[in-house]
Amino acid sequence: MEKEVARKRIQELTRIINDHNYRYYVLAQPTISDQEYDTLLEELVALEIAFPEFRSKNSPSQRVGGQVTKKFPTVLHKYPMLSLSNTYSRDEVSGFDQRVKKAVGGYADYVCELKYDGLAISLLYENGELTRAATRGDGIQGDEITANIKTIRSIPLTITNQAPGIFEVRGEVFMPHNSFLKLNQEKKEKGELLFANPRNAAAGSLKLQDSSVVAQRHLDCYIYNILGDDLPYQTHWESLQALKEMGFKVSDDIRQCEDIEAVFRFLEEGERKRKTLPFDIDGVVVKVNRYVHQEKLGYTAKFPRWAIAYKYKAERAATTLLDVGFQVGRTGAVTPVAILEPVAVAGSTVKRASLYNEDKMYELDLHYNDVVFVEKGGDVIPKVVDADRSKRPADAKKIRFVSDCPECGSSLKKDHGLSVHYCPNSLDCAPQIQGKIDHFVSRGAMDIDSLGMGKTELLLSKGKISNIADLYDLTFNDLIGLEKTITDPATNKTRTVRFREKTTNNILSAIEDSKKVPFERVLYALGIRHLGETMAKKLARHFGNIDRMQHASFEELIAIHGVGDVMAHSIRHYFDNPGNQQIIKRLKDAGLSFSVESHEKPSTSLLEGKSFVVSGVFANYSRPEIKSLIQDHGGEIKSSISAKTDYLVAGENMGPEKRKKAMELNIPVITEEELERLIKE
Ligand code: IVH
Repeated sequence: MEKEVARKRIQELTRIINDHNYRYYVLAQPTISDQEYDTLLEELVALEIAFPEFRSKNSPSQRVGGQVTKKFPTVLHKYPMLSLSNTYSRDEVSGFDQRVKKAVGGYADYVCELKYDGLAISLLYENGELTRAATRGDGIQGDEITANIKTIRSIPLTITNQAPGIFEVRGEVFMPHNSFLKLNQEKKEKGELLFANPRNAAAGSLKLQDSSVVAQRHLDCYIYNILGDDLPYQTHWESLQALKEMGFKVSDDIRQCEDIEAVFRFLEEGERKRKTLPFDIDGVVVKVNRYVHQEKLGYTAKFPRWAIAYKYKAERAATTLLDVGFQVGRTGAVTPVAILEPVAVAGSTVKRASLYNEDKMYELDLHYNDVVFVEKGGDVIPKVVDADRSKRPADAKKIRFVSDCPECGSSLKKDHGLSVHYCPNSLDCAPQIQGKIDHFVSRGAMDIDSLGMGKTELLLSKGKISNIADLYDLTFNDLIGLEKTITDPATNKTRTVRFREKTTNNILSAIEDSKKVPFERVLYALGIRHLGETMAKKLARHFGNIDRMQHASFEELIAIHGVGDVMAHSIRHYFDNPGNQQIIKRLKDAGLSFSVESHEKPSTSLLEGKSFVVSGVFANYSRPEIKSLIQDHGGEIKSSISAKTDYLVAGENMGPEKRKKAMELNIPVITEEELERLIKE
């Protein structure tokens, strides 16, 4: 084909496919069959392969994905992504209305929208093209996930109608119920872990590295906001209409409300409608309509004062408590779990529900065969929130917490001052062994990806490993040919895990690669109770190597900022155990990193050009520590706030004057955790 003909056809196909995308995914009014659509797309893809010079970055062919991103770059939001103040009470919505009226000096109208239960997203458009998509992150900076977002077909890649030169839109990415059910069904068949709800599934999907897998997740997105300099709109309602005209998917369930009574009607209708919507919502967002009013109202440090989220209460159902089971986790923590007569709550059948710990369990004063109330909010795990004592027979038997480990029979222990029981037999209790190994190979730890999905279970069951150090003794001959059929207890479906040559080599080379993992992650990977990622990092830097840490006394440990009694005891307890000493020795001999390399001192230029004022007392750092942290990453420390300050890092007891000044100058006030997130790789 001649070049010019190809160029024109690519242009034409782009326009036609974009138009069909819009009709199908935004308007839900397709005018061609799926097959005809696929034929057009195939023709475009073929032409783009033959004439790559004519393929645009925002070609509709990007919708099928293909780009693989190893690590999503961090990007700063031009306008912070705030959250909303929440309420479950109508009185508080009235209070909001009163405050609004007072601030604007009289009448104010509102726009009501559904509160979609997904993930906030920011999309940047420049000269009609989508150029960047980012997650909310900590509100100040998020992950750039443009390739993944391009697979969402209701998001326009190119705006052909009238639109501002540069603008950002905000919306919510979610997974519709049908996509969610299909995905979980597929996962079930493959014997993989299921997503607990559509929000988790959407979040998990956006984090996938391969955008072609994201494309198959069938995500969707409602847009609810536009931001930019000198936008021509006077009201939020007007901007929503403009967004619709630009081709964005704006929900039809939005309403302009003249007064708070009309808002209440929307809240009630929304609650009824919720049950029939093809996606999850968790409430309604009420926004002041006029921008002049919004400006008058302004912001608190976290929320706009011109909006409020009214959340619907979690759905609840009554059922019979059949028994309480006790689960042992990787650190030995024993959790009570209610075994229930199956009951439908919020669209799924609940058979088990969390009871958290002994204190929570006894607070509910549970007896066998009690009628209990189970609640399922946006949260993953259903929980028992109450028991109906009036229905309890006089001779009902009280449910007691176990005193011995249900897995290995050891006497349970309790950490001083904590309500969690744990099994102290950390090296010989089956779920702890499995849990410790799974934790060791997991992402934030040693990241031995190829040992996921039932493979550690196979190695354990065949007696090839019984602790983390054994992994480093594995040979090709130990692995090749191993296989096991694993049954999913929930579905009774089976699948076979088998080590062929390729898998075996992948595993061995991933284990070899893990020897390069830095000390701080090795320390975290050991799975010492109460030692999370952040403190492992801090202690690795504090001690510099494992020998110094291993010999640190309880007193030395608690003298470290952020280490309390419980953690110090747990660290001592871990190192005093000869079994653990042996494991560390073997890991050292295998070549794992047990000291901080000098080049590991974290220094980046992530904060370059940014100036910080540090004020107050911090939980995890001394003042000099937090300052050098900022400087190590290229940031500059200033002693007083001015218009040039980029961030105020605020600890406890910061003077109110500083906060006030920062607010006046619109300078973000961040906590130490938010600072850490700013400089997290
Ligand atoms: S407006 C400055 N509108 O709720 C406020 N948010 O708690 C910007 N959300 O992070 C948010 N539906 O992820 C707005 N119609 C809607 C929404 C909505 C869902 C989410 C969004 C935001 C969170 C705030």
